[in-house]
Amino acid sequence: MKKIVVANNKGGVSKTTSVLNLAGYFANKKYKVLVIDLDPQANLTDSFGVEIENTENNAYLALKEKNIESYILKINENIDLLPANLDLEKANLDFVSILGRELLLRKGLSKVEKNYDICLIDTSPNLSTLTLNALSCADSVYIPLRTGYYEMRGVSVLLDVIEQIKEDINPKLILGGVFLTQYDNRTNITTEVVENLKKYFGESLMKSKIRNNISLVEAPALIKNIFDYKPQSNGAKDYEALGDEILEREKI
Ligand SMILES: Nc1ncnc2c1ncn2[C@@H]1O[C@H](COP(=O)(O)OP(=O)(O)OP(=O)(O)O)[C@@H](O)[C@H]1O
Ligand SMILES: [Mg+2]
Repeated sequence: MKKIVVANNKGGVSKTTSVLNLAGYFANKKYKVLVIDLDPQANLTDSFGVEIENTENNAYLALKEKNIESYILKINENIDLLPANLDLEKANLDFVSILGRELLLRKGLSKVEKNYDICLIDTSPNLSTLTLNALSCADSVYIPLRTGYYEMRGVSVLLDVIEQIKEDINPKLILGGVFLTQYDNRTNITTEVVENLKKYFGESLMKSKIRNNISLVEAPALIKNIFDYKPQSNGAKDYEALGDEILEREKI
């Protein structure tokens, strides 16, 4: 099972949108996908139409008990979800005294590893214990960047944390790629930004770009991914290209 984290400590850069649609794309290609929502905002969980306020199924308990298996929900034939709820907010405080608190997810995942081809993890816009748990168990991290002048601010902190995790906890972790989201090529700014990013990231900057597309906003409100909602849209085309590029980079 390839473990892929989508992370950026900046908010609103399309982390959740990307996990939802990549999961849909991989599932359509018949891969068995485990999706993990590690964001207490639970936007991804909502996008799958799961209401879990009063149920026992959530990532907080799964991490606390290092037992993911009991808390996984079946979404469809090829997608399972470990859902989030607001309880996850407590994790950052509650786990402070646990020795090896960055390794809870890794330990929990080892028991379900054989059941899936790909695990996709959505993270919150910060570098909390939860995000560190994701990075500590992952094979690759992908960073979505919104296309604009100030979007690089803060990414250097994330890159430093990735290096540190690699050094201290998870030597196999690699930066899988950086991809542009909410892209609009009609502006001069965009061309300049892309040139600078190419210089900075080199090969890590992916070819695929996710354009601005309203269908990507509408789909989750209808509990759909873009391939179910508008398969002909630019959003579907862009996530298909991104999905293929990830499969190629990960050699899946
Ligand atoms: N390509 C796109 N075109 C238009 N709107 C988009 C696109 N991608 C995402 N959005 C919208 O932008 C907003 C932020 O996206 P999303 O929730 O995926 O970001 P996020 O990085 O997960 O945010 P957070 O850091 O709060 O978890 C959402 O309203 C989403 O529908
Ligand atoms: Mg999100």
